Amino acid sequence: MDRVKVILTIMLIFLIAIQFVPVSSNQDSQLKKTGFTKIYPVPAKVQAILKKSCDDCHSNYTQYPWYANLQPVSGWMASHISKGKRELNFSEFGSYSKYKQKSKLKAITNSIQDGTMPLASYTLIHKNAKLSPAAQTLVINWMEQTEDSLSLTNQQ
Ligand code: HEC
Repeated sequence: MDRVKVILTIMLIFLIAIQFVPVSSNQDSQLKKTGFTKIYPVPAKVQAILKKSCDDCHSNYTQYPWYANLQPVSGWMASHISKGKRELNFSEFGSYSKYKQKSKLKAITNSIQDGTMPLASYTLIHKNAKLSPAAQTLVINWMEQTEDSLSLTNQQ
């Protein structure tokens, strides 16, 4: 066997071997009371945008494409999901302090304004998750309005 064949064989064995690395799936069976839409009157249009563009990494309900079962894709996704949820989890938003909720609403506005969210590596594949300028304005306006309406006088 020449070197190329040896290398390809090793890569193939590696790819097959990593298929056995288990990945936990991010799909809660019940809707949490702390869910974002349970504690805020989120307009249907805004809900739809967040669901389509953010929930896969920022909630307990990821909609997995078929290739999510293949490693190393599942590993990358699991890592994005766990990092994303650590920063912002819409399913557990209600368990955040009022102060944290307010700062996360601001962070959402910022992330959309500067175009860092949804992650570029995600919109590359999920083309329809990319926010149109109109969708950006809609979400930002609502987030800012809600942030302003949150009073921090009764700090929790
Ligand atoms: C593919 C996964 C993915 C998607 C989709 C995604 N995010 Fe993120 N998000 C992350 C990850 C991972 C982080 C952690 C920081 C980092 O690595 O950039 C993050 C961080 C954030 C933060 C930072 C939190 C803070 O307190 O600074 C905000 C806000 C945020 N995302 C909002 C959004 C919004 C809004 C959407 C939808 C428009 C979205 N994200 C879509 C993966 C994602």
